[in-house]
Amino acid sequence: RQRETTVTITGAGGQIGYALLYRIAAGDMLGPDRPVRLRLLEIPQGIRSAEGAALELQDCAFPLLRDVEISDAPAVAFDGCDIALLVGARPRGPGMERADLLAANAGIFGPQGAAIGEAASDGVRVVVVGNPANTNALIAAASASGIPADRFTALTRLDHNRAVGQLTQTLGVRADEIENVAIWGNHSATQFPDVSHARARGERVVDALAERLGGGDAAQAWLDDTFIPRVAKRGAEIIEVRGSSSVASAANAAIEHVRDEQAGTPWTSAAVVSRGEYGVPEGLVCSFPVRSDGNGYRVIEGLEVDARARARIEASVAELVAERDAVRALGVF
Ligand code: NAI
Repeated sequence: RQRETTVTITGAGGQIGYALLYRIAAGDMLGPDRPVRLRLLEIPQGIRSAEGAALELQDCAFPLLRDVEISDAPAVAFDGCDIALLVGARPRGPGMERADLLAANAGIFGPQGAAIGEAASDGVRVVVVGNPANTNALIAAASASGIPADRFTALTRLDHNRAVGQLTQTLGVRADEIENVAIWGNHSATQFPDVSHARARGERVVDALAERLGGGDAAQAWLDDTFIPRVAKRGAEIIEVRGSSSVASAANAAIEHVRDEQAGTPWTSAAVVSRGEYGVPEGLVCSFPVRSDGNGYRVIEGLEVDARARARIEASVAELVAERDAVRALGVF
């Protein structure tokens, strides 16, 4: 029997937290053989909400759930942590400049990274969900002394799943018949959802699109004018239609990110610390096509990137560089 896995969730009293907790406790993230201990981190205003969620966890009587502890102290919440989902973040307020947003989040992810360095288990893995996710992950990694930076990732699986969802609609295939979609760059409107390596029922997606849409030019126009902007701006579309941001789909993506990292996958998308792959500056937390052998995500190398794709990747990477430089200017690292 495997030992218990300690999972820390920050912002656990928030919306995504509420969509995450029950699925993790039910075994959706780590499987039916791994009992979990939950550590919920909140700020004082969020503690009651987390406590309420914990009462409901009791009422679910999940066989895999061993323990729930709630705290507003990072040192307590990350003690012995094996897997951390950093969800709580400072949202952009009215009139808030990007520098203010980055500074406010540095004040959250810096101390949390430091607490992970001090208190988490040696093998800890961290995924940042709270926005701006890539740069928050960079800050947390830089603040966690003693933990290799490549243990820190940021979530772009929601963007990946959104891209798959759009293709299922347009090609009339099931989600599990689509392979090798990739999200490159920042989890923001500059991201590049890339289908150039993707296949649907084994056929190249670009060919399948050309057949459906009436030729290669029509397929390219659909990718540039419909698919890419729709995936990149899907968060805003959800807010407009639903009146509230993506919650269930974000929690689902976070669960799949951790599940596939732990269980292994031949191909998905995640933001990981660049080692210079595809010319992305070393140290940036950038989304790439990745695989996992069960021991962390690694960039899938050697893919052909044409000039059009290269330009899109470079534009998003430039945004990541600007965010990193703004954080550096604050003296965070
Ligand atoms: P929410 O506002 O419902 O919940 C956030 C929670 O975090 C609140 O309960 C708040 O008290 C808590 N919190 C704030 N600062 C904290 C701190 N220092 N330590 C611990 N907890 C703290 O927001 P929601 O909808 O749950 O979204 C959370 C984050 O996820 C947002 O930043 C959002 O932009 C991001 N997000 C990211 C996505 C992605 O694909 N990467 C997709 C959707 C949302």
